[in-house]
Amino acid sequence: MASLTVRQLDDRLKKLLRLRAARNGRSVEDEVRTILRAAADEGAPGPLEASAPPREARSAAPPAVRRVLLIIGGGIAAYKSLDLIRRLKERGLAVRCILTKAAERFVTPLSAGAIVGERVFTDLFDPAHEFDVGHIRLAREPDLVVVAPATADLMAKLAGGHADDLATAVLLATTAKVLLAPAMNPRMWANKATQRNLAQLAADGFRFVGPNEGEMAEAGESGTGRMAEPLEIAAAIDKLLTLGHALDGVRVLVTSGPTYEPIDPVRYIANRSSGKQGHAIAAAAAAAGAEVTLVSGPVNLPDPPGVTVAHVESARDMLEAVERALPADVAIFAAAVADWRVANASAQKIKKAAGKAVPALAFAENPDILATIAHRKAQRPRLVIGFAAETENVAANARAKRAAKGCDWILANDVSPQTGIMGGDSNTVALITANGAESWPPQSKDDVAAMLIARIADALKADT
Ligand code: CTP
Repeated sequence: MASLTVRQLDDRLKKLLRLRAARNGRSVEDEVRTILRAAADEGAPGPLEASAPPREARSAAPPAVRRVLLIIGGGIAAYKSLDLIRRLKERGLAVRCILTKAAERFVTPLSAGAIVGERVFTDLFDPAHEFDVGHIRLAREPDLVVVAPATADLMAKLAGGHADDLATAVLLATTAKVLLAPAMNPRMWANKATQRNLAQLAADGFRFVGPNEGEMAEAGESGTGRMAEPLEIAAAIDKLLTLGHALDGVRVLVTSGPTYEPIDPVRYIANRSSGKQGHAIAAAAAAAGAEVTLVSGPVNLPDPPGVTVAHVESARDMLEAVERALPADVAIFAAAVADWRVANASAQKIKKAAGKAVPALAFAENPDILATIAHRKAQRPRLVIGFAAETENVAANARAKRAAKGCDWILANDVSPQTGIMGGDSNTVALITANGAESWPPQSKDDVAAMLIARIADALKADT
């Protein structure tokens, strides 16, 4: 089943679902999937009731309505944005909508307005409404601004700080987080100018969902450039709104990726870590309002938006960068650090020659970065979290690692090749704390990150 649509739930159930999803840092769809999985597990107690909010919470005032401003750009994918509006309204979000001039060629203000349930906005200078809902108010009101489709032209304007129409003026004036759902022809997406704008926008803190790979509207065209599906965009919106300000003012340090240990100036020893999980955690922490430093080994991933990144190669460089990044409130060690380095690394390229013996490498142990930080007397972060990459006896090894390294929590995962976790997009982890172990469902690395950040926010709150 590729997606899940649940209709005709009564209001109490919808509210319970939304609260439960928010508490667990999941989208409503993911929450339903989790509940169904648990229900399929025979003998499990009624999962919805089991984690229903306590009575006091149920009678507490409903959470404030979240406001989303949707800017529809001019692309063939604009029609999907009408479905997106419906998805957002289903979630109880208050939606306002701006259409760019080009968008009006694909959808009309009338059709968008009918779904939004109020007029949509199109003009920067609208004498009838400037005093009512001007662009500054449109920029100030929302908790999140979403641009879908974000065309190549809109991205270029945003990267350059233009403000020559209502959409760009609002985007320049808003302090809310902005989520872009790019959509364009694959050649336009791959163009150096678009990629330059993308890098600039990511560095400026814009968030992205998609584009996806697949068939384009133009006959015979395919590649990367399709706008993410409405449900994917809605899930990304859920995540940004849920995390919201959960880690405002919190300093988070994350390590990610492999380390490279040189053999000589051109050769090195490395491992299969992609950095996807560590980078997802850094991105989720930033999305939750934290001030994030990411110390990353060599990876093929863009720097996450709104994060300060230190790029390093070896384990010893990583430790130095981590120490420079202290103090931090929370430190999460997701990097796959090489345990050993080559002790007899050569300053010059090792040459092969007929009759010459093959080189013998001698190894020296690298510093254990997690253990070093967790055992610090001064500047120990309040919460130190490690990962345990195991291929056998996962839970027992992870528990032993937590104790040996002195960290507060450890996320255990099975990195045997058949799990596809190392380098893949999904992960199955168990969270091990002083109070025991908790298995999390198989989910995307982004969802693991969101769940972890929600747990960290809860733990910090409980600790203050
Ligand atoms: N780690 C670290 N510095 C190292 C080795 C590991 O900071 N030199 C951290 C990792 O980032 C992870 C945790 O320690 O959070 C466990 O890493 P893992 O590779 O699972 O275990 P190791 O300590 O390397 O032990 P082993 O290889 O024996 O399983």
